Amino acid sequence: MKALVLSGGKGTRLRPLTFTCAKQLIPVANKPILGYVLDQVASTGIKKVGIITAHETGQFVEDYVRDGIVWGFNVNYIPQEPLGLAHAVKTAKNFLGQDSFVMCLGDNVTGQGLEAFVKKFKTENLDALIILKEVDNPSAFGIAQLDAKGNIVRLVEKPKTPMGNLAIIGTYLFSNKIHQAIERIKPSWRGELEITDAIQEMINMGFSVKAEILNSWWLDTGKKDDILSANAKILDEYIERDVKGTVTNSTVDGRVKVAADSQIVNSTIRGPCVIGKNVLVENSFIGPYTSIGDGSKICSSNLEYCVVQDNVTIKDVERLEDSLIGKNTKVTRNQRNRTLKLHVGDFSELEV
Ligand code: G1P
Repeated sequence: MKALVLSGGKGTRLRPLTFTCAKQLIPVANKPILGYVLDQVASTGIKKVGIITAHETGQFVEDYVRDGIVWGFNVNYIPQEPLGLAHAVKTAKNFLGQDSFVMCLGDNVTGQGLEAFVKKFKTENLDALIILKEVDNPSAFGIAQLDAKGNIVRLVEKPKTPMGNLAIIGTYLFSNKIHQAIERIKPSWRGELEITDAIQEMINMGFSVKAEILNSWWLDTGKKDDILSANAKILDEYIERDVKGTVTNSTVDGRVKVAADSQIVNSTIRGPCVIGKNVLVENSFIGPYTSIGDGSKICSSNLEYCVVQDNVTIKDVERLEDSLIGKNTKVTRNQRNRTLKLHVGDFSELEV
């Protein structure tokens, strides 16, 4: 079995961060989301991994994953135009050959590994296994309608009038029959070859397609608030207390990770929280569910429920909440008057 990890796309909803970074590389708990996806692939024992990349951001992905040896992978990079998930499979056809494969979206994180799904797929000799999770906004996803026994009745991509609330999450398992189905589908109204249509086509062709309901959390990190939720979930589940940096005249409460070479001075840190390498936190409060990237300086400021990337300076900011701050950014208070002074990139969002 192989793995196909999709790390392309434009990431328009996460601009401006995605002008200089692939959306799958935005860190949660100071580690790129793609890293968690690759960890889960590695746990299945799969070695041959194809990574779909976009022309604009592919180099960032390659710089992070490199030869994949950290995960024990043999990696193939496959550049793709963003023309849909089924188009990505089509583009990867040479790499996939006649093998079955697990396909993961590089920006979807779940609280559950892949092993149980791989086992079910293999022991039941399936042609496709999709994973479902209830959502509040079914029109934003591929939706599955099941009968009373849990068999799939119908799959529709982003239905205007949803026939249920079970969304197809970004983890799929396929036999090589998927290629026949993809040959038969046409692009959708959004001009993409939809994987949902291809799976529906597999059902129409009489192949063995099953669905499993995810019993953990799932986050599709396409927007700022999803990144913040994923950060909170990962901090909750994975962070243990591990304070390596220097703590002076400060309180560090609960599950807080502070890397070596970092300094906490006259401050309070309340977990779960992660502070990267070479960070200075001075005269500040860092509240729960916050991640601070390497090389950042937080001075005389109060932060809570934030993702702060590398080399950020935050100074004299009374209260910063629910914020996602890109690399090499400065957020400071204008001391002289109450005027806001901004130097903001294209597609930024500021709530003042
Ligand atoms: C894609 C799929 C959709 C699925 C979703 C999961 O949507 O087309 O069926 O529910 O991923 O994240 P997209 O991210 O392309 O809007």
